[in-house]
Amino acid sequence: MVIEAFDRVKELQTLITSTEINNKEDLEAFRIEYLGTKNIIKPLFSAIRNIPNERKKEYGQLVNALKQLAEEKFIEIDQLLNAKAANQVEQVDLTAPAEALELGSRHPVSLVLNQMIEIFDRLGFAIAEDIEIEDDWHNFTALNTPQDHPARDMQDTYYILNDPRRLLRTHTSSVQSHVMMTQKPPIRIIAPGRVYRNETISARAHCQFHQVEGLYIAEKVSFADLRQTIYYFAKEMFGATKIRMRPSFFPFTEPSAEVDVWWGCETETDKRITKGTGWLEILGCGMVDPAVLVNCGIDPEKYSGFAFGMGVERIAMLKYQIDDIRLLFENDVRFLKQFKKTAVF
Ligand code: PHE
Repeated sequence: MVIEAFDRVKELQTLITSTEINNKEDLEAFRIEYLGTKNIIKPLFSAIRNIPNERKKEYGQLVNALKQLAEEKFIEIDQLLNAKAANQVEQVDLTAPAEALELGSRHPVSLVLNQMIEIFDRLGFAIAEDIEIEDDWHNFTALNTPQDHPARDMQDTYYILNDPRRLLRTHTSSVQSHVMMTQKPPIRIIAPGRVYRNETISARAHCQFHQVEGLYIAEKVSFADLRQTIYYFAKEMFGATKIRMRPSFFPFTEPSAEVDVWWGCETETDKRITKGTGWLEILGCGMVDPAVLVNCGIDPEKYSGFAFGMGVERIAMLKYQIDDIRLLFENDVRFLKQFKKTAVF
């Protein structure tokens, strides 16, 4: 009887170690057999009654070890099978065609801005940036725009509440004042950035938009230099073959001009865009007024310069035939998606 009990323990031990378990079903059968409520180890525990006292301890330990052996085998194989299943899910078919990547796209304003920056970079213009919450001096006074100038009107300019000397810059010309105050000629910069005007929002106007300012100051800079620079830009940006300059007025340039590029007047679209003239206005410019140089500490006897400024949205709208400026600020993905470039990896 005693020998039998000990033999039975040994027998089960071999059985447990040798049982092959290859899948979940095998494992469940194993669990029922050795760990279920009616498992075959259980009777060995009750059999302890028949073991003589001096061997009870030894026997108890053996049966406990047997149970533990079954438990450990179960846990080990359960984990193994789970890991295998997880691996199968993640198995990759390396020959399957890759899914197309959803790429983001640059905003049309950024696309045009970057193109402008790139064109002027080729002419040696560095980028200058400055604050958008400006003081009245940099935005107006330094630029020869007197206190009673209509541009200062609350109708056009956003002032900071309770501080009539602080405002949201109305043009990137404010960067001109900063640069002239802090750099010595020769100065050759462009200043891209956001500007603000108190405009009623419509298809053609917005209260925020972007400009690119240009400023060149050195010895003996002439109007011919200005014209040539603008011509180069128009050629590169629009493929324009000719430009024309019309006399205009800005407080900070003298003489001042507005520049049109020849767009053409053949198709209906040409006629609509150019209002039937074939010419397209793209920017304002002029020779820096000597009074502005003096205001910013530059000797007008020694130095002269030119400046220009243009609206980025206007040019983006022309380039991409967008007929409502508001689309540029609504961030509607359906609109923005159209400017996606094909990705080449
Ligand atoms: N600041 C002018 C505007 O916003 C443009 C400009 C810049 C004109 C520089 C002349 C020289 O309309």
